[in-house]
Amino acid sequence: MTHSDKDRVSPTANKDRVVIFDTTLRDGEQSPGATMTHEEKLEIAELLDEMGVDIIEAGFPIASEGDFNAVTEIAKNTKNAVICGLARANLKDIDRCWDAVRHARRPRIHTFIGTSPLHRAIPNLTQEEMAERIHETVTHARNLCDNVQWSPMDATRTEWDYLCRVVEIAIKAGATTINIPDTVGYTAPEESADLIRRLIATVPGAQEVVFATHCHNDLGMATANSLAAVAGGARQIECTINGLGERAGNTALEEVVMAMKVRGDIMPYHTGIDTTKIMNISRRVASVSGFNVQFNKAIVGKNAFAHESGIHQDGMLKNAETFEIMRPEDVGLTETNIVMGKHSGRAALRSKLKDLGFDLADNQLADVFVRFKSLADRKKEIYDEDLIALVSAGADPANDHLQITSLQVACGTDGPAQATLVMRVGETEQSATARGDGPVDASFKAVRALHPNDAHLSLYQVHAVTEGTDAQATVSVRLEDAGMIAVGQSADTDTVVASARAYVNALNRLHARRGKTGSNAREISYKDVS
Ligand code: KIV
Ligand code: ZN
Repeated sequence: MTHSDKDRVSPTANKDRVVIFDTTLRDGEQSPGATMTHEEKLEIAELLDEMGVDIIEAGFPIASEGDFNAVTEIAKNTKNAVICGLARANLKDIDRCWDAVRHARRPRIHTFIGTSPLHRAIPNLTQEEMAERIHETVTHARNLCDNVQWSPMDATRTEWDYLCRVVEIAIKAGATTINIPDTVGYTAPEESADLIRRLIATVPGAQEVVFATHCHNDLGMATANSLAAVAGGARQIECTINGLGERAGNTALEEVVMAMKVRGDIMPYHTGIDTTKIMNISRRVASVSGFNVQFNKAIVGKNAFAHESGIHQDGMLKNAETFEIMRPEDVGLTETNIVMGKHSGRAALRSKLKDLGFDLADNQLADVFVRFKSLADRKKEIYDEDLIALVSAGADPANDHLQITSLQVACGTDGPAQATLVMRVGETEQSATARGDGPVDASFKAVRALHPNDAHLSLYQVHAVTEGTDAQATVSVRLEDAGMIAVGQSADTDTVVASARAYVNALNRLHARRGKTGSNAREISYKDVS
């Protein structure tokens, strides 16, 4: 699929074109625990650009050095998409945002302020004072950049008259996109359509700008509300991969895009998204964020295209359309005939991984091949999911400081479990034995005996990749330490080994971040509106 420049920069030129604004790296990454490393952010931005996302909201530059550096580098590297940064309604935020996004071929500043009564109370501004602030900050942003988005946060709970007034001020001050956020996931489809329709009809100048919709999923209506907003006249949808985001998440990119594609008969809009890239980016975002996709999630869930009941399978064999409204290939889900096992060679592995959406460099392939052979020695059939887990929990450059050499665990029905661990810590190999409440607890204690730390374990999640008792387990561990969050992952047929490795992976990531200037730890949140 090709994406013409015209489509990307001038969506209003084509009234049925809906611009996709992805905020996985800002609103998505901001959800507690979804922190990504600098390299992961760059990788996701590249995938978003390749799939045809029109605008990438790459971060919130004033929030931390890490955010600033990531937005700057994404701005420098991105080939096609507009690169946007978030800024609160003050000059310092906007200047910092501009310093990061100005490197982009097409930069955008996104500035916002909470306009509902509850949000106005936080900075303690009167309606009048807030109106002045909006005029001043949007004017400032527009003097720096000719592409400015303005958002009245909590728009769906803002008084109608006041909302019209502030939207008009922002348009007059030079905003080119007006985003209407449903910050707390409160609206419903009819209301969402109606709000956009009425704003466009009422506010002077509204016909000259693009209206955007930004929905949260607290009542499970984000996708429906976003599509309804488009029916009401919005031409930009703000969304995230897998619906990643705070609380119940944001509108899922894959859902709105596929809904418009499959039901073009009643939603005659199109996007520039190459939908065959959906599965791959969904897997990468799940892996780097540590937020697994629920099995029955629309479009990208493991079961979204699985047909197990007899009636379904029979129908599918006769005619796939009996139970399928879209083809798995349309979202990049490919089944191949290559069966992988212990005799498979490197070329077969490369080809299989390519079919699964992983185009690996030679050194990455060499690493995956070693781990694939080791897995094939222990597991008779290697499923696609096994390979995806192998690649996703792959070699991590942060995995340097601590490295598990061996782990032996003894546990019984009564009494504590005991773990004996040999681990390289820096340059030296050390061993420790620890007892714990079960094998995982004992292993983590053994790790702590060799590498004492105060990091708080805020998530421990085990996920069986396939069926069967020889299934691989993927384990995610989230640690928090002094404002920094790190997610570690690993996959192994042995759940305890995968758990210990995931724990060590998270510790390595914390260690690597502490050593870097410009850590990801956020100094402020976008909700601290002052
Ligand atoms: O949900 C929200 O209101 C936001 C704004 C910053 C646009 O994310
Ligand atoms: Zn949001």
